[in-house]
Amino acid sequence: MKKIEDYVRSIPDFPEPGIIFRDVTSVLQSKDGLKLAIDQMQALLKDVEFDVIAGPESRGFIFGVPIAYNLNKAFIPVRKKGKLPCETVSMEYDLEYGKAVIEMHKDAIKPGQKVVIIDDLIATGGTIEAITKLIEELGGEVIKIIFLMELKGLNGRAKLQGYDVEAVIKYEGK
Ligand code: PRP
Ligand code: MG
Repeated sequence: MKKIEDYVRSIPDFPEPGIIFRDVTSVLQSKDGLKLAIDQMQALLKDVEFDVIAGPESRGFIFGVPIAYNLNKAFIPVRKKGKLPCETVSMEYDLEYGKAVIEMHKDAIKPGQKVVIIDDLIATGGTIEAITKLIEELGGEVIKIIFLMELKGLNGRAKLQGYDVEAVIKYEGK
């Protein structure tokens, strides 16, 4: 029986020397890899009480939607700037080079709702830190944050202190 790790293709020195790129497409393009990933991420929500799942465009959608569907919950898309048609809240965050902005609809989260955040990967933690701020600005409570993969060498968890953060696969390096 293959493990989920066996489906992650690792590409050394991409996008730059010294970085090992952990490729999620090799998980998705295997029916067994996809099933393992969804099942193992979803298992981390066993016995967790919550209202909705939120996930960032675009890879957060891939994992967040099937888990929300399986658990009979709604899914809140957090989108890159300029995509959402109604009133939004937005947050800037740091990328490796430069900055980016993500947005949510103002009515996406109701005050007091318990929110689970799902994404494929935590690297620096900047993306999810920005999402926690948006959810809290809307009055939601972040109950748990789940990743398929964690690059421990980038210490993204430092940005998410105080939150319940779990990753299915943990890599020591960057
Ligand atoms: C990648 C990845 C995570 C984020 C992690 O998304 O899917 O969302 O970076 O990085 P961080 O922890 O340093 O914030 P990316 O912004 O490349 O967009 P994509 O999901 O559309 O590919
Ligand atoms: Mg992403």
